Amino acid sequence: MSYDTNIIEGIKGESLIIFLPISEVDPELIRTWRNQDEIRNNMYTNHIISPEEHLAWYQKISRDPSVRYWIFSDDGIKKIGLVYLYDIDLKNRRAFWGIYMGDLRLQGKGIGSRVEFAILDYVFFDLNLNKLNCEVLAFNKPAIRFYKKFGFAEEGYFKQHIFRDNRYYDVIRLAVLKDDWVNKHRERIKKVMGITEEEIARKKIYV
Ligand SMILES: CC(C)(COP(=O)(O)OP(=O)(O)OC[C@H]1O[C@@H](n2cnc3c(N)ncnc32)[C@H](O)[C@@H]1OP(=O)(O)O)[C@@H](O)C(=O)NCCC(=O)NCCS
Repeated sequence: MSYDTNIIEGIKGESLIIFLPISEVDPELIRTWRNQDEIRNNMYTNHIISPEEHLAWYQKISRDPSVRYWIFSDDGIKKIGLVYLYDIDLKNRRAFWGIYMGDLRLQGKGIGSRVEFAILDYVFFDLNLNKLNCEVLAFNKPAIRFYKKFGFAEEGYFKQHIFRDNRYYDVIRLAVLKDDWVNKHRERIKKVMGITEEEIARKKIYV
């Protein structure tokens, strides 16, 4: 394990969620997560990714200023999954995001929701963007629920948008605006999740 001691030093006590730089983990871990059936079948491409393809992807995203990737963790040690922003457009102040759990045993325990809360606050308060988008394969009903619960609303339905497994799949585009997150959904979600501003302030996002 090759943790930056500064990062470990900075993590004291409970935190809502911690976003670690992906350089903190062995790239092979991400490849293993991404190649799990439950993950790859919810993505636009679902072939098994080879070490070479993965390395090329890793090098590409490391150089690309329009994307940001993190590993999320609940204690700074345990690596749980991947969260990312892509198509970050500072001129129009919008971006897309995506998430998947790497450790599938931890699904359905509210960790994804803590990540979603943190990414919304980060995008709207730290990056000062105005709109956060995401796209999901139309059959992925749990993920659509996961986004809608936080205020994401459907903006587009793209028929036969992805060709995979010798057939076409529909895609749903969802989005939430800063104003709606700040004034409509944030307080509601705090109550639903039973979290306080003090806990939220203890989230850590390493950039
Ligand atoms: C979608 C995902 C990130 C949610 O993370 P999670 O930690 O399991 O979600 P939570 O425990 O915070 O659940 C929040 C809500 O998401 C929904 N949900 C989504 N996936 C779920 C799952 N596999 N099991 C249970 N609930 C799930 C539930 O409706 C839940 O709502 P509730 O609190 O009203 O019951 C995770 O299930 C995952 O990695 N899925 C596979 C990859 C994927 O589809 N990513 C999105 C692609 S666009």
